[in-house]
Amino acid sequence: MIVTIDGPAGAGKSSAARMLAARLGFAFLDTGAMYRAVTLAGLRAGCDLADPSALTKLLINLRIELPPGRVLLDGEDITALIRTPDITAASGAVASNPAVRKQLVVWQREIAARGDFVCEGRDQGTIVFPDALCKFFLFADPDERARRRHRELATRGETITLAEVTSAQRERDARDAARDIAPMIPAQDAILLDSTRLTLDDVVARMDSEVRRRMKSD
Ligand code: DC
Repeated sequence: MIVTIDGPAGAGKSSAARMLAARLGFAFLDTGAMYRAVTLAGLRAGCDLADPSALTKLLINLRIELPPGRVLLDGEDITALIRTPDITAASGAVASNPAVRKQLVVWQREIAARGDFVCEGRDQGTIVFPDALCKFFLFADPDERARRRHRELATRGETITLAEVTSAQRERDARDAARDIAPMIPAQDAILLDSTRLTLDDVVARMDSEVRRRMKSD
């Protein structure tokens, strides 16, 4: 069984997906972490991330593993390394790369074939798992999302202003929504959830009851 949660950064997708997965007894797949891992590998290898063919060779030998709560690149723990603003900024170009998307979609389907999953990203309900049991598109007011993200970065010791976070977010939202391949849009059959005035518990409770309702009627 697959549940998908798509939507922009800062809407609370990761936290909601993790909590929902725990409540349902499903595993959790953070697909953004996979794009971030490829970004780190590309930067380390000195690839021009804007060149669509630059990452193709690198991808063949890449080993990304996602044990619970961690991200491994060729066996190295890169969990914290991929959460920096530099990787966030560079990941947009990588996520627009068709060869990267094609490969990551294959890996995501392989991983999800191993069990019941809550899959979180931008294209999970539209492209990767069109037949998912239940699809959510979680969004929130852009200012609120920027404030949340700024708070999160501050707790990790990143010195970045709210204005910088807001501007980077605006750029990334526009790019994610406008790209030709797998743009960030809700699936036609997705449930739209606005988290601006909801607590994380509210969001998860709504998702949980909808998924259980569908599991019963399936
Ligand atoms: O959710 P995130 O910020 O960790 O995602 C990192 C980058 O990957 C971001 O540029 C959006 C992109 N992404 C994507 O294009 N498709 C996904 N399924 C997940 C993330």
